Amino acid sequence: MNSRILGLGHAVPDHVVTNDDLTRLMDTSDEWIRQRTGIQERRHITEHTGGSDLGARAACDALAEAGVGAEDLDLILLGTLSPDVDFPATASLLQRKLGVGGMPVMDVRNQCSGFLYMLAIADQFIRSGGARHVLVVGAEIHSTGIDLSTLGREVAVIFGDGAGAAVLGPEADPRRGILSTHLHSEGKYAEKLMVEIPSSRLRPRVNAETLDQPGSRLWPRMEGRYVFKHAVNRFGEVIGEALAANGCTAADIDLLVPHQANLRISQLVAMGFDLPEEKVFNNIQRYGNTTAASIPIALHEAVAAGLVRDGSLVCLASFGAGFTWAAALMRW
Ligand code: ACO
Repeated sequence: MNSRILGLGHAVPDHVVTNDDLTRLMDTSDEWIRQRTGIQERRHITEHTGGSDLGARAACDALAEAGVGAEDLDLILLGTLSPDVDFPATASLLQRKLGVGGMPVMDVRNQCSGFLYMLAIADQFIRSGGARHVLVVGAEIHSTGIDLSTLGREVAVIFGDGAGAAVLGPEADPRRGILSTHLHSEGKYAEKLMVEIPSSRLRPRVNAETLDQPGSRLWPRMEGRYVFKHAVNRFGEVIGEALAANGCTAADIDLLVPHQANLRISQLVAMGFDLPEEKVFNNIQRYGNTTAASIPIALHEAVAAGLVRDGSLVCLASFGAGFTWAAALMRW
């Protein structure tokens, strides 16, 4: 038994933040951001909204498209690096917002690879008969966790808020649905992209002194160039691994949906596989990097735009903090 995606949904805040808007907060320019990242605008929340709120909206749409009731879910997974609260799991808050209970829930903390890690978990549960319907949600509120001053500009311009959801169920045809998933991690690179505080190593875990420090460890820090080079290599490796595992070549791919980290990363990866522009879906221009939400948002938009048809071979791939990286190959 394979698993397959039965329905997709996504939700983003209404408030659009353009590159020009950011120039009023920090020393940056529309030209720099477009050239280095491809991003033109992103969405930021304007009111008390958590990932579980956006996630619930995305989940309801995905459930409706799948024709599955929330009460029929056997497992709920939520991927985020920006949980609503430290504990309990944001998945617990999502479960409550969906008005259901009883089934297990869990948060998956694998940043930009979160969605593919969850897809692999859901796939394994369904294949083994441990679950029939699984909800997978990637949800991030980055805008409250980035330094919107010049000190934080390298990271702040990249990230946006959003959520994407998929409902998975069984697929009887072994040639269709999720064909394989491939997950990797190298914890030795943890410091290359990290938010250090709040930290359980400190008492209290966050204090006023920390908050006031310029360049505080409360904000994400990233060695951008280092991450960029690793991303290009690992994307290439893991996509190659997924193709080889299924006896396919890059020419067989109908659509590649990469995690939306940087348009230049996606273009270099596509070039490495000789994939024409129309076979690679990117929407980072409009949303920035929404981390665990970026693949389901992009996949939902690609499907809605008619770029994925019955029988299409779709490749999903990701790279992010950890470092973690992953790929999934599926026959639609
Ligand atoms: N506006 C203007 N100038 C800036 C900005 C900004 N927002 N940010 C940095 N600069 C400056 C730098 O200070 C530097 O100035 P200097 O030359 O005087 O020192 C100059 O621009 C060039 O900086 P670089 O770091 O070389 O810029 P680069 O071309 O590498 O682009 C970027 C930076 C966009 C961050 C890129 O490195 C990148 O995309 N990295 C990978 C990000 C990624 O994939 N993250 C993984 C996923 S995220 C996750 O998992 C949570």
